[in-house]
Formats: sequence, structure tokens, C-alpha cells
Amino acid sequence: MAKHPSITFFCKECGHETARWEGKCPGCHEWDTLVEAPVEKKNSAPRGRREGAARLTLGSASVPKPLHEHARERLPRIPVPISEFHRVMGGGIVPGGSVLVGGEPGIGKSTLLLQLLASLAVCDSDVSGLAHEHDSENDQNKAANGKRTLLYITGEEAPSQVAARGLRLTAQAIQFRQPRSTKVDEGASLAAALRTERLKLAGETELSSILSMLETERPLVAVIDSIQTLRDASINSAPGSISQVRECAMALVDAGRQLNTAIFLIGHVTKDGSIAGPRVLEHIVDTVLNFEGETRLDLRVLRASKNRFGSTDESGFFEMTQAGLLEVPDPSAALLDMESGPDKGSGSAVGSLCEGSRILLVELQGLTVPAPGGGSPRRRASGLDANRMAQILAVLETKGGVPFAMLDVFASAAGGFRVIEPDADLPLALALASAALSRPVREGLVAAGEVGLGGEIRPIPRLEARIAEARRLGFKSILLPTRGRNQLPAEKDGVRILRARTIREALALGLS
Ligand code: TYD
Ligand code: MG
Repeated sequence: MAKHPSITFFCKECGHETARWEGKCPGCHEWDTLVEAPVEKKNSAPRGRREGAARLTLGSASVPKPLHEHARERLPRIPVPISEFHRVMGGGIVPGGSVLVGGEPGIGKSTLLLQLLASLAVCDSDVSGLAHEHDSENDQNKAANGKRTLLYITGEEAPSQVAARGLRLTAQAIQFRQPRSTKVDEGASLAAALRTERLKLAGETELSSILSMLETERPLVAVIDSIQTLRDASINSAPGSISQVRECAMALVDAGRQLNTAIFLIGHVTKDGSIAGPRVLEHIVDTVLNFEGETRLDLRVLRASKNRFGSTDESGFFEMTQAGLLEVPDPSAALLDMESGPDKGSGSAVGSLCEGSRILLVELQGLTVPAPGGGSPRRRASGLDANRMAQILAVLETKGGVPFAMLDVFASAAGGFRVIEPDADLPLALALASAALSRPVREGLVAAGEVGLGGEIRPIPRLEARIAEARRLGFKSILLPTRGRNQLPAEKDGVRILRARTIREALALGLS
């Protein structure tokens, strides 16, 4: 059948497709996000069923079955041997599920996923003669996981380059599985890594070749590095364009479902977000993970922004080292440690934040300088929401009596950490007021609370856990909202408990 190129418009943000250009995307209602993309389309066939389009066509149409039959078909989740990763996935990898891992170039996405496959490969007890303990969950899942391949497909770097790194990371994973008491032998673990057959690597960017590779190998997990390098020959646009990225992702997700292969797609997020970014893919995959951090610093945070199979609250902490990504079991200590200067002075406050099931202590910093005359003063926030900061400045000015109108204001979260929760409002307010008034925050204080527009400090959850974390890290007092049901003593386990109802009270209690 004859094909003719037609012009379609795609939304950069949500991937919505329209025949004609509009200023506002009908899908997500964002302005100025529609871009033109030439696509070759078969006249009447539905999308995704174009002639010549690469697609796996296994099996037949689905047949209705009783619920218990469907339930029986469900494969158990694959436990991730990297516990910080396991936590973010919401309890293991779902066979046949799809995961998008987004992040800026150089943040460590390739390293993370190569390490994932390496650690899964060495779970297999026949990897080496080296003994390692299996937890019961692993044993239970072993039958289902069998010895299926773990496949890494790279279109970014030369396979030989990835292989060298993969061997090093596999050797590392073998060493990590040794009991602590055993002396680590690098030579033996490298030799064992060289014997690992389960982890396979291919350099490929052609979608149809990747699909046939998946069909032949039927891997347990496949990593595609990266989705932006793939090319579907039936589409007329360049790799990385929105239509290519979308079509390739849809074909791979579909193939993963049919083959029971968990598909991990790596996607680069650019700072300006102008090229086809993973935002287009969010609707196609089951899970979206973001790998974040400052490339200059070593701390990395893995967070889920969408998860069909679990919560999106949990985050995983890693440190980028010469030996790959190491898990950070005590992120509070690591975050506080990063900025430990001799004397904090004014403009610094420690916040107690809720990150999924754990409490994190993070230092927030504020800096104010007299604004040069004319124009509006500058407001810069890094690792913090700029709108949230503007709101807190307004509340501090009107309800707290701290003038900011003539000041340039800068604020940041220490360690390159990105703060999301509103419980950081109060510590941020303390840091900003402390900077503006040149009064240091009370020594050894941790604060947590949401600040309302009326200047009230709103209740936050998990007060007991916050007190315990403050005590563990050697803090002397904690400033919390008065409101909320909890009846707390004035002191607990050596931590003074201060409670504020309004921003004014909070400033009086929190600043020295
Ligand atoms: P990479 O995983 O290639 O990032 P991405 O795929 O997100 O672009 O790794 C980025 C950086 O990490 C790179 O500059 C080198 C560094 N790195 C280490 O410090 N240690 C290691 O073991 C590895 C593999 C990489
Ligand atoms: Mg990479």
C-alpha cells in the first residue's frame, strides 16, 4: 500500500498528538508545547499497526478467564539485590513491566543499570565456587526467574567499553555478596565475573534487531541504553525525535509484556527539556524513576515519580565512587556531613524531612544581600521549589515582621539534595530569617513544619520518628508545630521539644 508522509504535531510534555498546530496542548493544557514531527503513516490503519513497522506479534487475542486463572499466571516479583533500588521499585521488579530511568547526562544511569544486571547475575549460585547466602525470598523466586538472560543493549557507548565496566561492576557485586568476615579477594572475584554467562551485552540501535534479539533471548530483564539512540526504520525522522522515541518505546514495552521481560529504558533529560524527553514516555511505561543529584557531588538519589506497582514515596540513596554506585544506608548522616563547616553562623537551619518511610535530616541554607537599586530583587532557589520559597518570604515579611523587599535572596538544600515535602517550610523560613536578621539558628536545633499563608505552622506527620532521628544524630532540640493530635512531653530522650503555633513564635523559639 502506498505511504505518504503526513505532518502530525506532538506535545513535548505529554506526547498528545494532533493533526494541526495549536497554541495550547489539548492533552495537558500546557502552552506552546506542540512541535511538528513528520511521520509516515499508512492511510487507514490504526496507529502502531503501520505496514513495515517493527512489532512483535506473539500469541493471539486475549480470552476472558476467571480471576483466579489470571492470578495464577502472575509471576512473582524479582527481588533486587541492591536494597536501595529494591525499596524504590516498591518491592522488586515486576516481570514484563516497563521502567523508564531518566536523568541528566553523566549522572550515572548507565552505571546504575549495569550494576543492577550485574547484581542480578551474581545472585545465581552457580556463578562461582564462592559461597553466598540466599535469603528465603530469593530462593522462592528462583524457580520462576530460572537462569534467564540479563540483557544490556547499548547504543550510546562501544560494547567493549561497557563490557570492561560491566566486568568490574560484576566483580564488585560478587565481593559485596561475601559475608563481611571473609577476606575479599579481588583476583578471585574478577575470575568469577569472567565466568558469568547470564549477563549479555549487545551494541544495537535498530528497533527491529532489538525486538528479534529479545524474542530469541527472552531475557528476564533487558536494559536499553538509551531510548534516544533507537531507530524505527519505518519512521522517517531522526533518532531522538519525539515520534522515534515514542514508537520505539511503545514497541519495546509491548514486547516486554509479551515475553515477560522487564524492560528498563534509559532516557536523558536535558536541562532545557527541548528535545524529545522522557516526559513523552511517562504514559507508556509502568514506572518512572528519576536519578538525581549534582554531577559535581557524589550523592545520588533515585526517586519514583510514577509507579503502577508501588508507592512513589520511597527514595534510594547512592554514592558515586571509583567502584561504582555504593548504597548510602544512613543518608541523614551523609547529607549533614557534606556541609560540615567549622562555624555555621547565620543562614543555616537543619530540617527534618519525611522521605517515604524514612526521616532525613537536611541542612537548608539562606543568604541575603542588599539588592542593587532599580528592578525587582533576585530570588534564587536550588534544590528547593522557587514558588514555595517566594510564599515563605511573603509570610515572613507580612506575618513574621522580617523585611525582604530590599534584599536579594538565595537559598539551597545542602548536598545537591532536592527537597519536595512541605515539612521543609519551617526550617527554610528559619534559615531565611536567620540570614536576613544576622541571627544564627539556635544551636543543635532541628525543625519541621509546613507554613500556611496565614503565618500558622501546620501539623506534620510522624513527630515521634523525627524526634528519634534528631536524637540519633546528636541534636539537642526540635522545633515542631503545636497543632496536631500528638501530646508530647517538653523533653524526650535528652531532646528538648519546642512547639510553635505561628511563624512569629517559631522565630522567637528557633533563632538565638
Ligand atoms: P554514567 O553511568 O555513564 O552516566 P549516564 O549514563 O547517566 O550518562 O556515569 C557517569 C559518571 O560516573 C562518569 O563521569 C564516570 C563516573 N563513574 C564513576 O565515578 N565510577 C564508576 O564506577 C563508573 C562506572 C562511572
Ligand atoms: Mg549513559
